[in-house]
Formats: sequence, structure tokens, C-alpha cells
Amino acid sequence: MNQSAELLALAVSVARAAGDLATRMRADGVAAVATKSTATDVVTAADRAVEQLVRDRLREARPGDVVFGEEYGGGQERAAVRWILDPIDGTVNYLYDIPVYAVSLAAEVDGVVVAGVVINAATGREWTATLGGGAYCGDRRLRVSGETDLGQALVGTGFGYAAGRRLHQARVLTGLIGHIRDVRRIGAASIDLCLVAEGALDAYYEKGLNPWDHAAGGLVAAEAGALVTGLDGNAPGVDMVIAAPPALHAQLHDLLSKLDASGGP
Ligand code: IPD
Repeated sequence: MNQSAELLALAVSVARAAGDLATRMRADGVAAVATKSTATDVVTAADRAVEQLVRDRLREARPGDVVFGEEYGGGQERAAVRWILDPIDGTVNYLYDIPVYAVSLAAEVDGVVVAGVVINAATGREWTATLGGGAYCGDRRLRVSGETDLGQALVGTGFGYAAGRRLHQARVLTGLIGHIRDVRRIGAASIDLCLVAEGALDAYYEKGLNPWDHAAGGLVAAEAGALVTGLDGNAPGVDMVIAAPPALHAQLHDLLSKLDASGGP
């Protein structure tokens, strides 16, 4: 097995255990235990417990690696492998018991994501990818949508937690919605990216994502044939993530650039 495949195998086994813990804790009932950037940006006890479980399992298996996680940060030290973790992506869905929330775990080597897994913990649906090795949902190899006309495209997006940012994002969407088939706000960026990989969404974009939101799903989308970029020649990051098949990417990119989608607060 090559290194990426080994890292993926570990990621999958740890993410499955993490997903099981998330669903068990969901069945016991969930409440927000704290807020982060705004009053609607919540953390549940499960976010923390799941992140701790992943950290413990990774430390046991590979003590020299570091972990950069949504809840406890870290991952700034030099190490052969940096794991990037969102213990529960789609925390608001989790809080409301909407069955779309994921454990997202990626392995980065020398600053490049080489393996990633996203598991919708509510359904067990599992997406994986290794760099150069393709993207899969279970055993099924994934390929992005063949849509070439932005006017026919179903486009996913999301919104940040701060009111000012959401207002800017809503203005961008107002400019976009007349040029696409329709929009979906599913509530978990990692899953949105995997749906682009499957062709269930034709494209996806969002401003304000953190690395743990898009590291694993971005690799899954790219390995399924999507272009995953930022705006105006930038890498995907906090200012913008666009994931779309090459035929749609330029159309969506240019419209988002015109609408100043990476601007605003
Ligand atoms: C959020 C979700 C949501 C996206 C937000 C993210 P979280 O992550 O991925 O879909 O629109 O930008 O912050 O807070 O549930 O881990």
C-alpha cells in the first residue's frame, strides 16, 4: 500500500468510530454548550467529544503526527503528516436533528492534502479520495456532472455565521440566482463538495470556509474531476472555494468575480 492509501485506511477507520460516537450522542439528545464567533455559531458536547476521540486514535496509531481541528486548533508544529479535522461539519443540522452532518478528516503531507474521508454520520454514506487515486463513494468511482450550461446548473452554497457576512452572501446570491437552475443550502460544506464529486450538485461555492470544512471534500471533488479553486487565480481558502466541472467553472467563477463574492466582511 502506498502512503496515501495507508493514511486513508487509518482516516476511514477513525472517522467511522467518530461518526458512531456522534450518532450515539445525537440519539441521547443534543444541546449547544457554547458559542464561538457569533450567538448562532454553536459547539455541542459531541463536537468536542468526537474531536477528542479522533485525536486519541490518531495519537495511538501515529504518535509523530499533528492534528489541526475545528474545536481544539493545534497542528502548527512541524510533522510528517498534519491531519485536518472537522469533528461535526453541519453542527446546526446536528443540533436540529437534520440528518446531514459529517466527520471530515484529511491527511496533509508537505502542505498537500493526499487523503481524505467525509462520512455523513447520520446515514453512514462515505466518500473517500487519495491524491491521484480517484474519488469514491463506497466502492463507486465518482465523476462530476456533465452539465456545461450554467443556466441549467444546480449550485450549492452556504452562509457564514456573522450577520454582515451573511448579508453580503445574500446579495451575491441575488445576483447569481437568475443565471442558474436553482440553489441548494445543505448545511455541511464537506458534504456539498462530495455531492459535486457525485454530480448530485453541478457546482458549489462559498466564502468563509476554514481548512477543516474543505480539506477532505475538496480532494474528493478534485479527484472526481472538479476544478477546486479560489477567485481570480487564488487557491481555495477563506476568501472563496469554488468547486465545479471545468465546463462550468469559468462561467461560475466569472460571475462570482463580477459580483465581488469574495469581498465584503
Ligand atoms: C459550517 C457548515 C456550513 C457552512 C459554514 C460552515 P460547521 O461548518 O459547513 O454548511 O455554510 O460556512 O462553517 O460550523 O457546521 O462545522
